[in-house]
Amino acid sequence: MKSVYIRGNASLYGEVTIQGSKNAALPIMAAALLVPGECVLRNCPRIADVDHMCRILRSIGCRVDRKGRQIRIDASVLKDSRLPEESVTRMRSSIMLMGPLLGRIGEVSLSHPGGCVIGDRPIDLHVKALSRMGAVCRDDGDRLSAVSAGLKGTLVRLAYPSVGATENVIMAAVLADGATWLENCAREPEIGWLCDFLIHCGASIERTGPGRLLIRGKKRLHPCAYSVPADRIVAGTYLCACLAAGGEIFLKGAPAGENDALEKIAEQMGAQVRKTRTGLWARRAGPLRSPGSVATGSFPAFPTDLQSPLLAAMAQAEGESRLQETVFNGRFGVVEELNRMGAGIAVRENTALIPGGRRLTGMRVRAAELRGGAALVIAGLCARGDTLVENRFYVDRGYEDICRDLRMLGACVQDG
Ligand code: UD1
Repeated sequence: MKSVYIRGNASLYGEVTIQGSKNAALPIMAAALLVPGECVLRNCPRIADVDHMCRILRSIGCRVDRKGRQIRIDASVLKDSRLPEESVTRMRSSIMLMGPLLGRIGEVSLSHPGGCVIGDRPIDLHVKALSRMGAVCRDDGDRLSAVSAGLKGTLVRLAYPSVGATENVIMAAVLADGATWLENCAREPEIGWLCDFLIHCGASIERTGPGRLLIRGKKRLHPCAYSVPADRIVAGTYLCACLAAGGEIFLKGAPAGENDALEKIAEQMGAQVRKTRTGLWARRAGPLRSPGSVATGSFPAFPTDLQSPLLAAMAQAEGESRLQETVFNGRFGVVEELNRMGAGIAVRENTALIPGGRRLTGMRVRAAELRGGAALVIAGLCARGDTLVENRFYVDRGYEDICRDLRMLGACVQDG
């Protein structure tokens, strides 16, 4: 399945269950390395990045047994601290193995992590924070290695609330000697889920204020069984699809309180949104209006991962919108393809100016990264005519089966 075929002029009606969260599952899988025993992770999404992480964990000695959405990880015996180049360069999240490997066996070596093409992705904050805890890091341009004779708890203040650096420090700190005060850390929900998993394994982590954690190092963690929560970005993508195409949908299991920024924007754009005990209901029946200016930012601000899907909806809204990207530079790659479909978007520095009111035309387009690919699928739903989104593998990195899900919502979307 190389492409996604979408019949345009769609509106969405139906119910879909939201898959487990990619950005929660990956660090939790990495954190299982800290536990000398078998952890059972349920509701892991069936996506390529989770496959990569399984492969990496196996390569360093873990026993990884995957059945559907359940993954058993037994990290009793770790035999290698060198991460395989192929998986690491394909998946940026492999950087999050630094903290747990340092914490558990005191060494790690990996080639420079790859990942989505969404701008510069330095790792200086990870390296600086782990060095403060006593790791000696070396970067020879190709490989990054770090060793430690025993990490020590200390005060770590991040210059920017990086999600990955926060996760690395937490994982390094849970087995460190003494207490770590982590300040200006990320507040994304996935940080909370990672802490929750580690606390289930016996770690001591306390939230002492917004963006502040106190982690008291323990001698040893114990295994646990844990269910990965639903994916807020997948839920947000389908909410953007409903906004753009119109209709009435129910996102079963969509996490509450994790998409407030988008839900507010959706209401400004003319949708009705209601949280229920079991998920999120949304309807957009009347005209789609511009929400004015929106900026991405760290949680609880509007997430950068939903910037491209929202862009596709804004292209069709009445009135001009502005969408400022403050987290990643170079994350407007999808604009070129949206403009071929007729969106007329101009990008000035880190802001996209969307004239709105455009009726897009279906055509053959090409995904260049994960969320941009999802945005093209949304654009295809509302376009006049049919759309073929090529390079589907980018979309599959984050969505179990976007065709299946959109079909559940009544769209005519097929594997191409
Ligand atoms: C995670 C998410 C990704 C999301 C991003 C921001 C996972 C697997 N991925 O990525 O989906 O888009 O958070 O919410 O959870 N930075 C530095 N130096 C560093 C680290 C980061 O300058 O050492 C910068 C980055 O270049 C970027 C910004 O900080 O501009 C945010 O990056 P970060 O929060 O670290 O994102 P990731 O953890 O890579």
